[in-house]
Amino acid sequence: MKFFLDTADLAEIEEACSWGVVAGVTTNPTLYARIGGKLADFNDHIRRICALVDGPVSAEATGAERADIIAQGRELAALAANVTVKVPTTIEGLAATKVLAAEGIDTNLTLCFSVPQALLAARAGARYISPFVGRFDDISEDGISQLDDVVSALENYDFGHPVEVIAASIRSANHVTQAALIGADIATVPFGVLKKLVSHPLTDRGLESFAADWQKVVNA
Ligand code: E4P
Repeated sequence: MKFFLDTADLAEIEEACSWGVVAGVTTNPTLYARIGGKLADFNDHIRRICALVDGPVSAEATGAERADIIAQGRELAALAANVTVKVPTTIEGLAATKVLAAEGIDTNLTLCFSVPQALLAARAGARYISPFVGRFDDISEDGISQLDDVVSALENYDFGHPVEVIAASIRSANHVTQAALIGADIATVPFGVLKKLVSHPLTDRGLESFAADWQKVVNA
């Protein structure tokens, strides 16, 4: 499973990229607002992220109608070679995906919450499909089993173009573990979760005992 970073924060992206684990970045309007982003700086900000990341960077089209999504998608795709256009999983989003895909523009179908939505997204030409896990958990439903269903259903078919599933709305290390066991191609994780993934109390305890024993060697 590949890791994407789910953030618009340049410092987080720079730091996580230095660990050698970041294969891409996903952003959305909430994440851009969270860093105090301004509309006038949006395109430049996406360009900055694209320059930092050796992999696809999802930038979200905010229009609701297909004509707006297509126009925004073209504009976003022109910002950098590694832009992927995030498109909502709606009828308008499917129609926009068809047009953008025909123009060679990669799309990431976001806010996907069901197998039928995922199948339609793939048929429309989506390069990536993002089933949201945590938002199901937020309403006391099982986001991981929904992700499992989407991955299994897509594996049954050949869509004639590459389609990768991004486990999105990831809130915990357990979500990441389950997504990997299911075989999701990618997990997009917030920086805070990514940091937790590398930690384990037994690693810390092991380091402490090695350090203490090494001191004995030094003092011998
Ligand atoms: C994915 O591309 C989305 O940006 C993100 O995972 C949404 O997560 P949230 O449900 O925590 O907002």
